[in-house]
Amino acid sequence: MSDMTRRTFVRTTGAGMAIAPFIMSRALGQMSANETISHAVIGTGGQGGGHVRNFQNSKGCQVVAVCDVDPKNLKKAAENAAPNVKRYTDFRKLLENKSIDSVSIATPDHWHTPIALAALMAGKHVYVEKPCSHNIYEASLLKKAARQYNKCVQHGTQRRSKGDHIEAMKLMRQGVIGKVYVHKAINHQLRGKIGKAKPEAPPAGVDYDMWLGPAPKVPFTHNRWHYQWHWFWDYGGGDVVNDGIHQIDVSVWAMGDRYPKRVVATGGMFYYDDDHETPDTLMAIFDYDDGQIIFEQRLYTNYKLEGHDNGNVSYGTKGRMEFGRQGVIVYPNGGDPYKVTSPQPVESIVQNFLTAVRANDPSLLNAPIERGAVSSDLCNLANIGYRTGVADLRFDPKKVEITNSTDANALVRRSYRKGYELPYKG
Ligand SMILES: NC(=O)c1ccc[n+]([C@@H]2O[C@H](COP(=O)([O-])OP(=O)(O)OC[C@H]3O[C@@H](n4cnc5c(N)ncnc54)[C@H](O)[C@@H]3O)[C@@H](O)[C@H]2O)c1
Repeated sequence: MSDMTRRTFVRTTGAGMAIAPFIMSRALGQMSANETISHAVIGTGGQGGGHVRNFQNSKGCQVVAVCDVDPKNLKKAAENAAPNVKRYTDFRKLLENKSIDSVSIATPDHWHTPIALAALMAGKHVYVEKPCSHNIYEASLLKKAARQYNKCVQHGTQRRSKGDHIEAMKLMRQGVIGKVYVHKAINHQLRGKIGKAKPEAPPAGVDYDMWLGPAPKVPFTHNRWHYQWHWFWDYGGGDVVNDGIHQIDVSVWAMGDRYPKRVVATGGMFYYDDDHETPDTLMAIFDYDDGQIIFEQRLYTNYKLEGHDNGNVSYGTKGRMEFGRQGVIVYPNGGDPYKVTSPQPVESIVQNFLTAVRANDPSLLNAPIERGAVSSDLCNLANIGYRTGVADLRFDPKKVEITNSTDANALVRRSYRKGYELPYKG
């Protein structure tokens, strides 16, 4: 709700008795059921364009501002937002707009945490796309800032808002497949080669320096541009943080959102012979005292593992549970398989975020940053294992350190280009 609207509300409400609870609730950061949440979308490409439509079409929400460094994407996004939407090319200016209650961030990964921190400091609630951070240290800062500023930070791992998944996790904890020791996270799909791109001028009107942000200044190529940035370490982390994170998220949810005692990761660039920096093949084992998460990624084949391209299998002593394109299916040992369904409708991830924002209550979030950060960190640990060749990583989440390798620990953080340092130090 804008300041103006709030003032108008107070002025035009006749009875003092009616105003008092309103002021009380706003002082607590809460909004009434009929107040409109003013939302902004930062990064309006493939996913951000979807955010604009989803938030604008959600009850009690208006997309009042959009921001992108690419005028083409900005224009397209504005067409689907509220009629008087404000357009920005610099998110810092957008965050100065006091009428904005919440923002979603759907930029490339290297911008997620820097923008999220600035948004929290500006008093906004945040929906941050997955992975919440480009490195492990950033995720720890984001958790701290969310607590310090007491705002809702939803992580864009939408399976946590699927009714069948929520019900499946309850059933698993009740023991329907017995004691579960292994959770498999599968990412098998065909992703083509990208070739080798030559430096060229950025498209007209694009603020390429702002696109690069904290990353080193390098010439523009179309492979470093929209979507393809996923395959460069300076901006993304390959498919484990792109699609794989959704499966790792389901497995770590089943594991109780805990950090493993060690991580063993290996992989290779067997198929790609192009500009790709991130691997086509990656395996990671996350070892716990009471079980394992096993992640497998192959990007050059349509071979399905256990019947899944993107999916999960949890193996228990009384059966197994599969999460995939056909929903969630329980296969009891010696019994007939059955599909898990939700006993009641469940809010979408966006609607759930809006509910939590309205109540100013992070505990209502289905994918709160404390949990999202664990999934994001596990993906980053897998990449660190692959990149350093350190076969046995020991990560201490309290110290935010890899304790048994200086080389590996160096990748827990990144350096930030001058002018694009993190706004929050923790
Ligand atoms: N949850 C999901 O299922 C899901 C699905 C797809 C993508 N995503 C995530 O969404 C994010 C965006 O992915 P995408 O495929 O839309 O990428 P994209 O490259 O198509 O879009 C990113 C947009 O951000 C803009 N941008 C870059 N730097 C900016 C800045 N400093 N300020 C404002 N805008 C900036 C770019 O110009 C571009 O328009 C990624 O982090 C990705 O992991 C999530």
